[in-house]
Amino acid sequence: MVAKNLQDTTTLHNGVKMPWFGIGVFKVEDGPELVHAVKTAIKHGYRSVDTAAIYGNEVGVGQGIREGIKEAGISREDLFVTSKVWNTDLGYESTIAAYETSLKKLGLEYLDLYLIHWPVEGKYKDAWRALETLYKEGRVRAIGVSNFQIHHLEDLMKDAEIKPMVNQVEYHPRLTQKELQAFCREHGIQLEAWSPLMQGQLLDNEVLQEIANKYNKSVAQVILRWDLQNGVVTIPKTTKEHRIVENASVFDFELTEEDMKRIDGLNQNHRVGPDPDNFDF
Ligand SMILES: NC(=O)c1ccc[n+]([C@@H]2O[C@H](COP(=O)([O-])OP(=O)(O)OC[C@H]3O[C@@H](n4cnc5c(N)ncnc54)[C@H](OP(=O)(O)O)[C@@H]3O)[C@@H](O)[C@H]2O)c1
Repeated sequence: MVAKNLQDTTTLHNGVKMPWFGIGVFKVEDGPELVHAVKTAIKHGYRSVDTAAIYGNEVGVGQGIREGIKEAGISREDLFVTSKVWNTDLGYESTIAAYETSLKKLGLEYLDLYLIHWPVEGKYKDAWRALETLYKEGRVRAIGVSNFQIHHLEDLMKDAEIKPMVNQVEYHPRLTQKELQAFCREHGIQLEAWSPLMQGQLLDNEVLQEIANKYNKSVAQVILRWDLQNGVVTIPKTTKEHRIVENASVFDFELTEEDMKRIDGLNQNHRVGPDPDNFDF
């Protein structure tokens, strides 16, 4: 079922509800602009925030959350907060310690979702055991992975006690990830899109522009709507209030089957980020 509004949720395989739509804060420096962006998103109805230890901005995200929920008159439980363990911290003890550090920086008692950021060979299984421990102890509401290909998921699940609830990957009309999505669906793993707007590089695409004109929407809105109609959680990044509002105004139109296929047809298996099968960090 397609999300009906900004606060609508998908139910993860453990029953936890995760908003279909959120705000990402990659490359946003810790400071007033970041705090303002998080607060503004909450003010406009966003209920999900995606950060990571490596972004170096968990302190500001935490401040934005505290101020944002106070101003909006909501509570921490109304929000869904995600962070990720960085590659250098992958290991059993070190991942648990990294979780504590993220919580401290964010000023939160728990996270809604904690992800292994990248599938570093030889390391992600120990990190996964740590995430399972945190989950079983009730310290985090859901656990998952990021940038995992099918073979990484198969390898992880061979030894895992708990299946990942989410896989957050690069996903946009130039990288439609059909096989990975089918695999995730089959295993009850929710797919989540990072760089849904291809970091802004798709906004002048002619096909998307033509479709956008037809619905009287922006290209960004068409792409984000395509995510939702494909059953993919999406977390576009912007610090600008008018774009925070624009990006979330995607619940008042529906792309036809034909337009969905035209957008799918833009796929070139093209990445703007690193290749999960060939990275050196
Ligand atoms: N797990 C991972 O490995 C991973 C990797 C990358 C990203 N992520 C997550 O995914 C989130 C989103 O990805 P992303 O930040 O790489 O890229 P993105 O959301 O695809 O694109 C962000 C860029 O698009 C611009 N933009 C946003 N809305 C717009 C609009 N309506 N019209 C025109 N331009 C617009 C933003 O500029 P302004 O800010 O100037 O508006 C920014 O330059 C990240 O913030 C992060 O939370 C995760």
